[in-house]
Amino acid sequence: MKASAVTTGSSFMPVSATQIASEVTDLYRFVVIVSTIACILCIGGMIYFAIRYRRKSASDKTAYMTHNNILEFLWSFIPFLIFVFLFAWGWKVYHAMRNPPLESLEIHVIGKQWLWEFQYKNGKSTSNELYVPIKTPIRLVMTSTDVLHSFFVPSFRIKQDVIPGKYTSLWFEAEQLGSFQVFCAELCGTAHSSMLAKINVLSTKDYADWIEKSESSLVSLSEKGKELTIKKGCVACHSDDDSIKVGPSFKGVFGKKRELMDNSKILADENYIRESLMNPKAKVAKGFPDGVMPTFQGQISDDELAAIIEYLKGLE
Ligand code: CUA
Repeated sequence: MKASAVTTGSSFMPVSATQIASEVTDLYRFVVIVSTIACILCIGGMIYFAIRYRRKSASDKTAYMTHNNILEFLWSFIPFLIFVFLFAWGWKVYHAMRNPPLESLEIHVIGKQWLWEFQYKNGKSTSNELYVPIKTPIRLVMTSTDVLHSFFVPSFRIKQDVIPGKYTSLWFEAEQLGSFQVFCAELCGTAHSSMLAKINVLSTKDYADWIEKSESSLVSLSEKGKELTIKKGCVACHSDDDSIKVGPSFKGVFGKKRELMDNSKILADENYIRESLMNPKAKVAKGFPDGVMPTFQGQISDDELAAIIEYLKGLE
């Protein structure tokens, strides 16, 4: 698949390639217009009054004024309404931006000094070129192997820090075919400014062809994850069915609420799985012995962790 030249916008804003990008542009435009009007009214009024009521002679005296209730009410209440309106509008767009639809296609993103690596569920991986189908919600599950990075896609108006030691996520649904620029937006060392990637939005058919086309026999992420649980010895204590060994079964863990020793409940998401491997004592499932599981800190790479998470996701 040949990547086309990066799609650029025609105005001072980058091209809007998602629904959310258009909504952000509308909101931004509204803020600019309202601010311009307010600026003209304030500065213009100030200049007008300075001229109109300027001191004309040495004996000129300003009239004694206390206050004006109606005026003071209006210049407080009208801005208040505008700000509340802006807040509500901003919240609506932000909420849509931060909450991916349930049926999203997930792709793992690993940021490292100084490139972006993308891992697809079927085991394919690419560097600095992300391929996605058009009109499909995509959820990126992101982490870093070294320092803070930030995944920024101006044409989609989305940006999210990528943090070593935990997962963050970002979602989008591209409405336009083409190639869109990704920047790293967090100073991450010498080659920060060249830590660039492209998102190539393909038609559904082209994407299906691309993802199917594999040079050698691919091992899917979840198969790789399953092999790892054997290789790393996890299966000694954890089953993948309804039977219980020393620790809880892997089956049906992911995406569910989990009850812990202190009776609190937590959602078993990517970060929970990661923490349970790296710091097993942090959140022990209720009814299981504490302090038995060894840590895998430094023994499992981010790639391997992504595979294990995909394996657990599949065990519903
Ligand atoms: Cu990675 Cu800047």
